Amino acid sequence: MPVICVQGLRRLNGEIWIQGSKNAVLPMMAASLLCRGTVTIANVPLIEDVFCMLEILRTLGCRCDLREHVLTVDARDAVGRPVPEEACRSMRSSIMLLGPLLGRFGAAQIWYPGGCSIGSRPIDLHLGALRSLGAQIVVEGEQIRAQASGLHGARLRFPYPSVGATENAVMAAVASEGTTRISGAAREPEIEALCDFLRTLGAGISGIGSGTLTVTGGSLLHGGSFTVPGDRIVAGTYLGAALTAGGELLLRGAPEGQMGAALAAASRMGAEIAVEPCSIRIKMTGRPRPVSLTTEPYPGFPTDLQSVMLAAASVAEGDSFIRETVFEERFSTAKELRKLGAHIIINGGTAAVEGRWPLCGGSVSGRDLRGGAALAVAGLAAEGTTFVDGYAHIRRGYEDICGDLAGAGAEICLEDIDRRKEHGAL
Ligand code: UD1
Repeated sequence: MPVICVQGLRRLNGEIWIQGSKNAVLPMMAASLLCRGTVTIANVPLIEDVFCMLEILRTLGCRCDLREHVLTVDARDAVGRPVPEEACRSMRSSIMLLGPLLGRFGAAQIWYPGGCSIGSRPIDLHLGALRSLGAQIVVEGEQIRAQASGLHGARLRFPYPSVGATENAVMAAVASEGTTRISGAAREPEIEALCDFLRTLGAGISGIGSGTLTVTGGSLLHGGSFTVPGDRIVAGTYLGAALTAGGELLLRGAPEGQMGAALAAASRMGAEIAVEPCSIRIKMTGRPRPVSLTTEPYPGFPTDLQSVMLAAASVAEGDSFIRETVFEERFSTAKELRKLGAHIIINGGTAAVEGRWPLCGGSVSGRDLRGGAALAVAGLAAEGTTFVDGYAHIRRGYEDICGDLAGAGAEICLEDIDRRKEHGAL
């Protein structure tokens, strides 16, 4: 696997086209199993998690074609087979198949999902919701077997607004007889996108965008077309890059309306931000100002941008405080940032960051998708060369992080691992 190699201390200047949203497209792909027609999805990001979901759909008998960011899925001849263990383990979103498989075939067999190591990531809320809709579920070791002889509508109340559990519940409810009311639902924009997608295919869903969703189930879904919105987390990563490296960036295709908390944090840190429909211009002169922020469910500050803000805070002019409330192990990136000279103390759920400029280049390891991207961003403000490994995680969610940042003035590329020896970094 190649490593990311960054020569730091170059200011950014240029444009980046923001890819389609990973967290929006994956549940849509899973939901395609519910359709008896061809589904066409445009603006699909070419990332490993999408390729993995594509493989799973093909294993289940769907005819899929992905060309130039346009995906078609024809699930008419799909069959209800067990989902292969390896595919489930490589991606958290494999859990998203549970609702659609139950809805379509009345049975599902999957394995406990893998993905990023950012905390315990239980699935009790997913299973509880599906059980309330009439599924019998047995968990044996790492295997999950679910069955239902006809799902039925129900009243569901989530004690915590889990994104994935809300999505699974909506997809199963679409295939259930009767009406399902989901309260305490997560309000992330990706749920809105999934509901809009399902409505395009004939589902009856109201309350979209709120914490209470009403799904009128039972009707078969037909084919249709949908365009995936831009990825707010990728756009937020590049906002973080501008904060960290300084300069001016135009983020085209960024879903600015979904990014209120990130944009507010960036402007508190000193960025000048101009927002137009589907684009964000950010200009950053000097070092970032320190920031205090807390990750929360949407519309709060997204946990997926916590690591990149940790990188930006590491070079701020003063002390920042970042509190994580969603995934307990997201702070594992702090350990790697310290290798680049960052001064971060973790106390419970809060990171206290004493900003320093510049960081110093070194070899670091990305252990999760967003943490890996944050380390590449930190390298932009490091003197000398920074090598980031863990690209296998990063490419699960970023089509081409190096190409994007290099196109905007950074000196960053993917290199063969052996070049680190030449640079004396191993
Ligand atoms: C999704 C996103 C992820 C993002 C997260 C929070 C996808 C593919 N991933 O993950 O990028 O960081 O939302 O915005 O869309 N929980 C339970 N029981 C459950 C489910 C969740 O206790 O059954 C807890 C989790 O441990 C975590 C919190 O709820 O502490 C949030 O998890 P959730 O919203 O479910 O995140 P994901 O859907 O896994």
